[in-house]
Amino acid sequence: MRCVTVNAPSGSYEVRIGAGLLESLGAGVRACTGAKRCAVIAGENVFPLYGERALGSLRSAGLETASLVFPAGEATKCLRRYGELLEFLAANRFTRSDCVVALGGGVTGDLSGFAAATYQRGIACVQVPTTLLAAVDSSVGGKTAIDLPQGKNQVGAFYQPALVLCDTDTLNTLPGRELRAGFAEVVKYAVLGDRALFEKLRKDDIEPGEVIETCVRRKAEIVAEDERDTGRRRLLNLGHTFGHAVESRSAYALLHGEAVAVGMAMICRAACAEGLLAPDDRDAVIALLRAFGLPTETAYSADELYDALLLDKKISGGRLHLIVPRAIGSCDILPLTAEEAYKWLEAGLR
Ligand code: NAD
Ligand code: GLY
Repeated sequence: MRCVTVNAPSGSYEVRIGAGLLESLGAGVRACTGAKRCAVIAGENVFPLYGERALGSLRSAGLETASLVFPAGEATKCLRRYGELLEFLAANRFTRSDCVVALGGGVTGDLSGFAAATYQRGIACVQVPTTLLAAVDSSVGGKTAIDLPQGKNQVGAFYQPALVLCDTDTLNTLPGRELRAGFAEVVKYAVLGDRALFEKLRKDDIEPGEVIETCVRRKAEIVAEDERDTGRRRLLNLGHTFGHAVESRSAYALLHGEAVAVGMAMICRAACAEGLLAPDDRDAVIALLRAFGLPTETAYSADELYDALLLDKKISGGRLHLIVPRAIGSCDILPLTAEEAYKWLEAGLR
């Protein structure tokens, strides 16, 4: 088993990564939360695959269990499902000494994490990521959220899990398109600060446990320094500013990772047009994204993306913080006015 400790200012916890770890869920929940009752939240695709195994492990460790299954897909990250989850916890008389287990991808993790953060002002949450994207990014670092019709992740909380348990065997059942989407976030970590990872990805010379551990270590370092996303953590939004705009504009027809891939390609093009990134590095990033079968272009115009861009949570004090690659393995945070951001958006589409 691989293990990374996240020392976030609001609390430390372990991210355990390895094959077959689902069997140890019950023991992990007992040891890390002290809970005696546990609500397993999963999506309709994941529960039939892993629900009984998760519940079995929890029961074997002496925990009482309940479970709730939601439709799969981004639309589940909404106020209605959030309300249903809170009412489910209340109807089953869950208390602050109990625990929520989020079994699934980023949708389940974000929704369950936010419900856990707010139910009775906070009940322990254990994240069990079953997608590559959730394993390398969304299950770690404590960002939880739901969407509003007006935009993505508009309501949420910073709330660290008590434990992240990533059973790499679960990735074996992930549809190819979802696996590819997860690699967008992996490429993000490489472009941000890990040229060696970039080269390994290029040569296809890395196994899933190592990929996940490498990404989680990088995220853990950043979260320890800037849990609430006011400084260095903004770097993790590489490709997300334009990507979220493309994702919202597509009404979520594009997967999150696919939209991030488009966003990363756009910011590389714009950085190159500004003379900040060498054309070779731009081309290498775009080629790697394409090698993973990810999209790198969009048919939306700058005008069509601009409204969604202005709803971005990364706007503060009238400035939008754009993450700009300067080389593979090195990025800067650029505060821009809305007009400047529009110009970058246009350059990214060229
Ligand atoms: P997802 O949660 O929608 O899961 C993808 C699909 O795969 C779903 O249909 C799901 O049912 C299915 N699935 C999941 N695991 C499976 C498995 N092991 N076998 C078979 N099918 C499986 O998508 P995602 O890409 O994991 O997450 C995307 C979400 O994560 C977005 O809402 C995004 O905003 C959020 N996100 C959050 C953070 C954060 O820091 N909190 C970071 C990145 C992304
Ligand atoms: N996914 C970006 C972050 O966790 O900050």
